[in-house]
Amino acid sequence: MRNSVALIVVTLCGLGAEEASLPEDFHRCRQKDPKLNECLKAAVPDAIRKMKLGVPSLSVPSMEPLHVSAINIDSGAGPVVITQNYKNIKLHGLTDTILTTYKADLNHFRLRTDSLTPKMEFIADYIMKGRILVLPIQGKGIANITMLNLVVKHDLIGEPVTRDGQTYMHIREYRVKFIPKKVLLYFSNLFNGDKRLGDQMNIFLNENSDLVFNELKESYENSLSSVFQDVTNKIFDKVPMNKIFLET
Ligand SMILES: *[C@@H]1O[C@H](CO)[C@@H](O)[C@H](O)[C@H]1NC(C)=O
Repeated sequence: MRNSVALIVVTLCGLGAEEASLPEDFHRCRQKDPKLNECLKAAVPDAIRKMKLGVPSLSVPSMEPLHVSAINIDSGAGPVVITQNYKNIKLHGLTDTILTTYKADLNHFRLRTDSLTPKMEFIADYIMKGRILVLPIQGKGIANITMLNLVVKHDLIGEPVTRDGQTYMHIREYRVKFIPKKVLLYFSNLFNGDKRLGDQMNIFLNENSDLVFNELKESYENSLSSVFQDVTNKIFDKVPMNKIFLET
C-alpha cells in the first residue's frame, strides 16, 4: 500500500517535467565569467539561428518563420479607432537578429537585452474595420507589416523554481518595447477588393505609418512578448539553470 502511494506521487511530480539539456551545439556561458554579458550577447543569437527549424526535444517551434496563432487588437480612442483580427501569423527575420547589449543579473533572475533585427516581416490573414484619422477603413485579406532596423528592448523577469533538487529559471514576466526605424504596411483586398480605394489607403497608411504603428504598437508588443516568453520557457522550464548558465 505504502509503495503504491509513493509510486503515484512520483508519477505526478514527473508529469511534463522531464529534465532536458540544451542541444549539444549551443554555446554555453559561465556564470562566473567576468565577460558573461559578452558571452551571452553572442551565444543567444547563435542559439536562435540554430533553432531555425525548431528543437523537437524541447518542443521549441521553428524560428524561421515563427508562427503565432492569432492577435486581436481593439484600439479605442484617438486618431486610430480600429478592430483588427490577425490569424496564421508568420514572423520572418528573427533569425537575423543580433544583440547590441546584454545585462544578466542571475542572482535576481533578471535578463535585459537590446536586439536589432534588420528586417522583420509580419505576414498574416487579417480582418479589420475602423477609422484612421477621418478615413474609414475595412478589409479582409493578407497583411504585410514590415519593420526595418527594429530595435527591441527585452526585459525578462524570472524566478527560481525547484524541482527534483534542480533549480529552473522560470520567466514570470517578459516585457518588450519595439522601436522600428521604419514601418512599411501593406493590406491586400481592402474595401472588398476595390483596387483604387485600396491602393489609396495603402499609400495613406504608409505616409502616416508612424502614427498608425504607434497606436497599434502596444498590442503587438503584448502579443509578441507572450510568444517570446513561451519560447524562452520551453527551454528554461526544462533545462536546469546551471546547465544553461554553467556554474563551473
Ligand atoms: C512584405 O513587404 C516588404 C516590404 O515592402 C517586402 O520586401 C516583402 O517582400 C513583403 N513580403 C511578402 C511575403 O509579401
